Amino acid sequence: MIPREIIDEIVFRSDIEQVIGSYVTLKRAGSNFNGLCPFHTEKTPSFTVFPNTKSFYCFGCGAGGDVISFTMRAENLDYVGAVELLAQRAGITLPEDGREGDTGIPRKRIYEMNLAAARFFRECLFDPKYGKEAMEYLTESRRLSSATIKHFGLGFSPNNAWMLTNHMHSLGFTDEELVTGFLCGKSQRTGKTYDYFRNRIIFPIIDTTGNIVAFGGRVMDDSKPKYLNTSDTPAFKKSRHLFALNFAKNNASEQMILCEGYMDVIALHAAGFENAVATLGTAITSEQSRIFAKYTKKVVITYDSDSAGQTAADKAMRLLGEAGLDVRVLKLEGAKDPDEYIKTYGRDAFSRVISESKSGFEYKMDKIISTHDISSAEGRIKAAGEICAVIASYHSGVEREIYIMSAAKRLELSREVLVSDVERIRRRMQRESANKMSRDALMTAKNLDNRVNRDAAKNIRANSAEEAIIGMILIFDELRAEVASGRTELSADDFITEFGRKAFSTICELELGKFGYSKSMLAQTLSIDEVSKLEQLEQNRRKYSANDKNVLEEYIRNLKEEKLNAEKSDDLSFILNSKRNKLREKKDS
Ligand code: GTP
Ligand code: MN
Repeated sequence: MIPREIIDEIVFRSDIEQVIGSYVTLKRAGSNFNGLCPFHTEKTPSFTVFPNTKSFYCFGCGAGGDVISFTMRAENLDYVGAVELLAQRAGITLPEDGREGDTGIPRKRIYEMNLAAARFFRECLFDPKYGKEAMEYLTESRRLSSATIKHFGLGFSPNNAWMLTNHMHSLGFTDEELVTGFLCGKSQRTGKTYDYFRNRIIFPIIDTTGNIVAFGGRVMDDSKPKYLNTSDTPAFKKSRHLFALNFAKNNASEQMILCEGYMDVIALHAAGFENAVATLGTAITSEQSRIFAKYTKKVVITYDSDSAGQTAADKAMRLLGEAGLDVRVLKLEGAKDPDEYIKTYGRDAFSRVISESKSGFEYKMDKIISTHDISSAEGRIKAAGEICAVIASYHSGVEREIYIMSAAKRLELSREVLVSDVERIRRRMQRESANKMSRDALMTAKNLDNRVNRDAAKNIRANSAEEAIIGMILIFDELRAEVASGRTELSADDFITEFGRKAFSTICELELGKFGYSKSMLAQTLSIDEVSKLEQLEQNRRKYSANDKNVLEEYIRNLKEEKLNAEKSDDLSFILNSKRNKLREKKDS
């Protein structure tokens, strides 16, 4: 857990309009700011930032909260991840033990453990008693030199369920630590721990400061799963690391190479391309694309040539482009992946392919043209239509102009025809997206309610009383203090909906805690959608001027009345049911 003082400090120093402003173009509107919501598509801004209350709310889709929950949503992070990111932005150093997550095991301990395990794996690989087959696999089947094997710290986990576990025990690591660090699994049946990686080649994953943060393990035959990777832990998120970044960061100033697999990266480094990295068995994330932006200007994507690889390349192109990088894509002919390509054609050939790599647009245009016969009129028309649609999707007029010219040349058509087609498609896209946006907004807002508060519709009067009460105690410190202290006759049990009970107890617990209520603590216990719902209740309530204690008490009375009615009708149905059961019993006997 991150200490509350530090969270307060981070929130205090994170200007909400500045943080959100780095994702959304905001325009001042009185004391607030408006912009296009980043969480649903819209053309007219319904997304609002309220600097006074340090909150945001989208009147279209209902997303809302504070700077932490915004960051969670925008970056797809958990609470601790968002706080870490904001701390970094604000230049605040988190205390080392502040980043442990909930396990209570310090990161440093996990790194120590991983280092010890990596040594063990390496020794097994180099010990013929255990690692003979693995070493042969690496040097013969994969043709790696001993220098490369050592450079990457590769290892081998013997085919034995307790060798690592026993070794780590002898070094003083506990079962709890081993399981938390994902070096061991725990048998559900016997409760005994066992080695997670067995009979696998081990690839240590090292961060930019030299800590071993995780491992990947590959089988040596065709069995499944081909790779096992360390799962996310409080000390490790695979979406925030890149394999071999520890080496690549020093050779990245000009460009970096992104590939799919560990083995591709290793083959590239061995061939002298020491700027290659890979994601850890998952599609690239926006966090990872920002890592690239930190170290380089240009990224060459070289994914597998199969269709899965090509689809993944499309996504990578988009995310890296959004991070402001110049993106190029390689399509390797005659090989499945870069590893195979270099083995077959050599490093110079790969170097040449890189220098001839294509921009994202050229790559897409090539792909379209390759699926049509552009020597026929019909094929040219189809290809032109698809290419115009791609061009129309670029926001920058300069980009569209440049691509139109290169498409005109390729298809031997005049620039003017293409311009008019592109413009027509853009108008249609705009119309469609406007319609879709208003539908989307309605749907998302409705889904939010369904997701968060399923019981709302069961008792509308009770629910609106609950919403008013929660809105009021969120806005007014005195009312919250009053209610939480128990001076007002209201407890969580008075609420009819599950959401109401949960929200009410969370707010009261925070209020009564050592540091008092703070909006930025809500997302620690509530889901991001629940936080949004609370922001909605707060915003709704602000519209009313009658927000004093008498009004609150009136709502509390309404709520209790409804609760009583609901219980009565429950009793009634209970009585009816038991009567029916008795009748049935009689019939049966
Ligand atoms: P080789 O087949 O040895 O050349 O490995 P590769 O690294 O080229 O693997 P491949 O192209 O098949 O897969 C790319 C990456 O996806 C791998 O490096 C892994 O990170 C990941 N991956 C592949 N198979 C699995 C799997 O079964 N499970 C998981 N979790 N990840 C996998
Ligand atoms: Mn491969």
